[in-house]
Amino acid sequence: MTLKKITIAVDGHSSCGKSTLAKAIATHFAYKYIDSGAMYRAVTLYAIQNQLIDSKDIKKDILENDLNLNKIIIDFKYNETKKKSDTYLNGHCVENEIRSIEVSNFVSLIAELKFVRQKMVALQQGMGKDGGIVMDGRDIGTVVFPNAELKIFLTAQVEIRAERRFKELIAKGDQVSFQEILNNLTTRDRIDSTREESPLIQSKDAVVIDNSRYTIEEQNLIAFQLVEKCL
Ligand code: CDP
Repeated sequence: MTLKKITIAVDGHSSCGKSTLAKAIATHFAYKYIDSGAMYRAVTLYAIQNQLIDSKDIKKDILENDLNLNKIIIDFKYNETKKKSDTYLNGHCVENEIRSIEVSNFVSLIAELKFVRQKMVALQQGMGKDGGIVMDGRDIGTVVFPNAELKIFLTAQVEIRAERRFKELIAKGDQVSFQEILNNLTTRDRIDSTREESPLIQSKDAVVIDNSRYTIEEQNLIAFQLVEKCL
């Protein structure tokens, strides 16, 4: 008997461990994993590199004219050494740069733009057309795959999320302060939840997991059981 290859959407607040959970599910069930946030981050990096944004007062109409999405190719390639996918922007591995605080500070502004979202959503739907996929983001269960068999909404207390991201960036050698990270998460959550285009909202049929007090193993176990119920 072959098991069904379902579609799994993992949405939730900034830095609550969506990608850790989504990757664990993908590995456990041999599914494809797509980090939709990495795509918005790659577009943001392109805009920074091409001097299209340098302040929070970015003008949407300027970006609409100057940000040519046809010049941006985003790929994911599996890195055998790291046992995970790296994000590529126009043929260059940008996995580290897209996680920087600079990109984090602008990404929610880029992700608000309707033309950017339309293009990313179309690409994401193409990647998931055959099922057997776990995708994490903000609008996966509501807009990208509204018919996903399983929708998880992950969250955690903001101070706990900030502490986890702070430790991650410090371990990579980034010079950041806890307060800077906390401000970034709070601002992104606000922009992501209140924007007009596909805001971050909890889909009615999503299962909520608050992982503030869970270990990674505990949250993975809960999610694996949810997936198994759908197969
Ligand atoms: O890893 P973290 O939760 O910090 O963020 P991410 O998943 O890498 O996403 C970065 C940003 O991209 C978010 O704050 C959103 O502004 C945007 N995003 C989005 O609008 N829609 C998605 N499906 C995924 C990310």
